Amino acid sequence: MKPKLQILMTGIGSYLPKNKTSNIDLEKFMDTSDEWIKKRTGINFRHYVEDNELTSDMGTTAAKLAILDAGLNSNDIDLIIVATTTPDDTFPSTAAKIQKNLGSKAISFDIQAVCAGFIYAISVGVAMLRDGYGKKCLVIGADSMSKLLDWDDRSTAVLFGDGAGAVVLENSTLQNESVQNDQWGVLATKIFTNGEYYDLLGTDGGVSKNMSTGFLRMNGKEIFKHAVDKLSSSLLMCLEECNMNINDIDWLIPHQANQRIINAVSNKVKIHQNKIISTISIHGNTSAASIPLALDVAMKKGNIKNGNILALQAIGGGLSWGSLILKIGKPN
Ligand code: UT7
Repeated sequence: MKPKLQILMTGIGSYLPKNKTSNIDLEKFMDTSDEWIKKRTGINFRHYVEDNELTSDMGTTAAKLAILDAGLNSNDIDLIIVATTTPDDTFPSTAAKIQKNLGSKAISFDIQAVCAGFIYAISVGVAMLRDGYGKKCLVIGADSMSKLLDWDDRSTAVLFGDGAGAVVLENSTLQNESVQNDQWGVLATKIFTNGEYYDLLGTDGGVSKNMSTGFLRMNGKEIFKHAVDKLSSSLLMCLEECNMNINDIDWLIPHQANQRIINAVSNKVKIHQNKIISTISIHGNTSAASIPLALDVAMKKGNIKNGNILALQAIGGGLSWGSLILKIGKPN
């Protein structure tokens, strides 16, 4: 059988809006407390877009930084996939807007898998690169979740924030030949959907219902249980596919929804807490942006080294969930 084409992750960038809001700021206009939010979620701060700041603006900034980090130009990019739940317009896609902002001619489209969107978008990008749709793919997770919040619903309003992150995926045929003798890049992806749980997390409005966008609604307790179970099982499936065990993972970068979920998954799959990247405290839940935002923070701190094995995982409305394993960077 022909070996699978290796797809490397060669660049990363992210963007957070300037408006940083603390739990204490929220206490001023909501029936909540800094103590409850910290204890039940681990969140201290989240960032919110300004009224005139769009999802595409955040995505474009993150994308430019990722392209620069990969040592490329916008016109080197063949594919742009944007994971978002909060597009600028009902249509066209936010990806088309970002393509225009970048001055690119790449095939561009959005993916809707809510908080699991980044894992889905990487999986689709990898499959398309392997299938010959191009050699370089920009994957962007960008969300303005604050625009979907009901400020009278304290059980959801305190959780979410806004931001964007982007990565560049490259077909390894462009790299040094030595890559062929070693497994680099995306090693396994597993994505799942179960519409039986459609009503657990979503909005109470939508286009085909002839309604406005609606507000975010969530059965937090049920989602919590599914999250621990499904994030753990999808990660174990990826490990099995790679013929690895949990000790082979250098860093776990989970979707940042709740520190208690992260801790429970860590106990279940038996990965040490000090191998987990958590930015929930400073970002809150930024939906499709949460993994690339956390990854970028860890890269900038120098925690993640070229060649480290990473596990990424997320779950969101649908329910949609998945995990992936990758060896980051490229051979020297
Ligand atoms: O990104 C997509 C995936 N999303 C998730 O994974 C989220 C999963 N769910 C969760 O993280 C948690 O279920 C929440 C953080 C949403 C809620 O935590 P919980 O421990 O399940 O709280 P709860 O909903 O059972 O509420 C416990 C209490 C209630 O008061 P009573 O009825 O016990 O008096 C709530 O009214 O906490 C109260 N409460 C709050 N109190 C202060 C709920 N929200 C707040 C709040 N501030 N913001």
